[in-house]
Amino acid sequence: MYHLQQIKLIKRPSGTPTNEDFEFAEAPIGEPAEGEVLIRTNYISVDPYLRGRMNNVKSYVPPFELDSVITSAVIGQVIESKSTHFEKNDVVTGGLGWQEYSVVQESEVRKIDTNLAPASAYLSVLGMTGLTAYFGLLDIADPKEGETVVVSGAAGAVGSVVGQIAKIKGAHVVGIAGSDEKIEYLKNELGFDAAINYKTEEIETALAKACPNGIDVYYENVGGEIGDAVLPLLNKFARIPVCGAISAYNNKEADIGLRVQSYLIKSSALMQGFTVGDYASRFKEGSEALAGWLQAGEIQYEETITEGFENTIDAFLDLFQGANVGKAIVKVSDIE
Ligand SMILES: NC(=O)c1ccc[n+]([C@@H]2O[C@H](COP(=O)([O-])OP(=O)(O)OC[C@H]3O[C@@H](n4cnc5c(N)ncnc54)[C@H](OP(=O)(O)O)[C@@H]3O)[C@@H](O)[C@H]2O)c1
Repeated sequence: MYHLQQIKLIKRPSGTPTNEDFEFAEAPIGEPAEGEVLIRTNYISVDPYLRGRMNNVKSYVPPFELDSVITSAVIGQVIESKSTHFEKNDVVTGGLGWQEYSVVQESEVRKIDTNLAPASAYLSVLGMTGLTAYFGLLDIADPKEGETVVVSGAAGAVGSVVGQIAKIKGAHVVGIAGSDEKIEYLKNELGFDAAINYKTEEIETALAKACPNGIDVYYENVGGEIGDAVLPLLNKFARIPVCGAISAYNNKEADIGLRVQSYLIKSSALMQGFTVGDYASRFKEGSEALAGWLQAGEIQYEETITEGFENTIDAFLDLFQGANVGKAIVKVSDIE
């Protein structure tokens, strides 16, 4: 019997996760039953939100069980089908396990069109992170021509798409990211009007300089001191979609910063949290818009691809070190 490698969560991380919280295990490759398919994993998405699922706390998605396989968005190829909906070699995506092969119900995966974009793009700009950028920015913030949009985590999967959509809408776009390489990428490749390296610049001063007309939209990906620095610069009726707060995901203690109330009152600002799942009924709209911009060359995307299933945990841990530009993805095998 053939065996596969898989990755399990064996300990709930305390603070920043380490390799000791995970375990590689072997399991038999299952046989698909009627209505099921056997999939070989090609690409695995590693995402900051998975950190939250490693804690045993109530959230918008249930926590991972200990000693069970971690799951996230995966691209794979059907290598055996007992479903009338799929044929051998179909390329599919779904929320699958961190393992080299999966046997799943036909309803758990959907086909993707690799003529439109390479398969991995369905984990980035055409996948969950692209949709998160699209709905958080356009539905909550609705930036207008000439407004100033600031985005943190700007060179990452969500942030890089947010900034480019804001440019399409005619905004003055300022990105905040953690390395000079990322700053150059935002300004020179993606056309951001300004970009700030929060690790080397004094964030309040740099923001004031980059936003001479104040801030109309702050797309929040990181929280912490960066989120605090934005508040005094908010314009009247500013909007703040709260997408993520990665700077706090590994905190062992409560994350207490500036109190937001007086800033929101003074600027009549709206601060709204959301999860991309809130927009599930509109995913088709978002996917079509993103695919259209991609095909028209109006948005581009970057991926940091880590080769090899054995490096999946490191690719996940690297998210908290800022190692990725664009979407962090693990390549497990070639699509044939
Ligand atoms: N609400 C939703 O439905 C939803 C969906 C997807 C993602 N999210 C959230 O959106 C955010 C971005 O996700 P993503 O998938 O696009 O990840 P990402 O931005 O591609 O990768 C994470 C990036 O976060 C930055 N970072 C790490 N630690 C940081 C810290 N302490 N302070 C400031 N920045 C830090 C790093 O870039 P630097 O080099 O710039 O530090 C790193 O590259 C995350 O907070 C995520 O949880 C929310």
